[in-house]
Amino acid sequence: MSCSYKEKIALWDWYDANILTSTNDEIKNLTQNVNFIVLSAIEQTKGRGRRGNKWHGDKGNLYFSYSIEIIATEISQIVCLIGLCLAKTILSYSENNQVQIKWPNDVFVNGKKISGILLENIKNNLWAVGIGVNIISHPKLDNANYQATSLKENNIITNREEFLKNYLNVFKQYYQVYKQDGFNKIKQEWIELAINYQKEISIKTEKEIKTGIFLNLDDNGYLILKTNKGEEKIIAGDLFI
Ligand code: BTN
Repeated sequence: MSCSYKEKIALWDWYDANILTSTNDEIKNLTQNVNFIVLSAIEQTKGRGRRGNKWHGDKGNLYFSYSIEIIATEISQIVCLIGLCLAKTILSYSENNQVQIKWPNDVFVNGKKISGILLENIKNNLWAVGIGVNIISHPKLDNANYQATSLKENNIITNREEFLKNYLNVFKQYYQVYKQDGFNKIKQEWIELAINYQKEISIKTEKEIKTGIFLNLDDNGYLILKTNKGEEKIIAGDLFI
C-alpha cells in the first residue's frame, strides 16, 4: 500500500492514499503497532458496504477509516454515536437541510442517503470505523428502497479533507461527552434526528422482516420495537423507510 502521512487531526494520525482497495482493509496493516490512525483514499476500487454491498469509489467523495478501542458492551452505543457525529457535522454546514439518522447510523439529507458506516474488528478491542460520504457525487441505487444524494446536490459545498477534519473534531468532542457522562445525552440528541421515531416501521433482521412501532432507543443503542406480540429489542437489522 502506498500512502503518505499528512498531519494530526484531533486524536488521529492521518494518512492519505491516492487509490486503495478499501480503507477498512488497509487500516489493519497500519494499526499493527500504533493505535490512533485515520486512513483516507481519494479512490477506492473495492469499497464495501454493510451486508456484502459494494460501495462506489469515485474521486471527489470521502472514503476513510479510523481506529478506535471499543469494549464489547459499548459497540451498539458507539455505532449510534458515529451516526450522530456525521449528522452533526453536516448540520454544522447548514441548518436549512433536513438531516436525519436511519437506525442505527445511516445519515440522510432531505430524505436521501448521503453516507454509510461499516464498523469492523481489527483485533481484540481495536475497531476500524469505515465511513463513506458523498461529497460531490452519488451513485444511482438500483436495489435499495431509498435514493442516494451528495452534499453538493443539497448546496453544501465542502471537500473531502475539510469534511474529514470537521467530522473527527466533532467525534472527539462527542466521544469525550460519552466517556464522561455516559450514553444518555448522546441518545437524546440521536432520537431528535431519528427517522420514523415512534412511527410504524419494518426491519429486516437476519431471519425475518418485523413490523411494529419504533418505540425507543434503549440504553445500549438497541431499537425497541412494539409489535402485536409485545416489545422486542432489535440489536441489528435494516430499517425500511
Ligand atoms: C453502508 O452503508 O453499507 C456502509 C458503507 C461504508 C463505506 C465505507 S467507504 C470507507 C470504508 N471502506 C470500505 O470499504 N467501506 C467503508
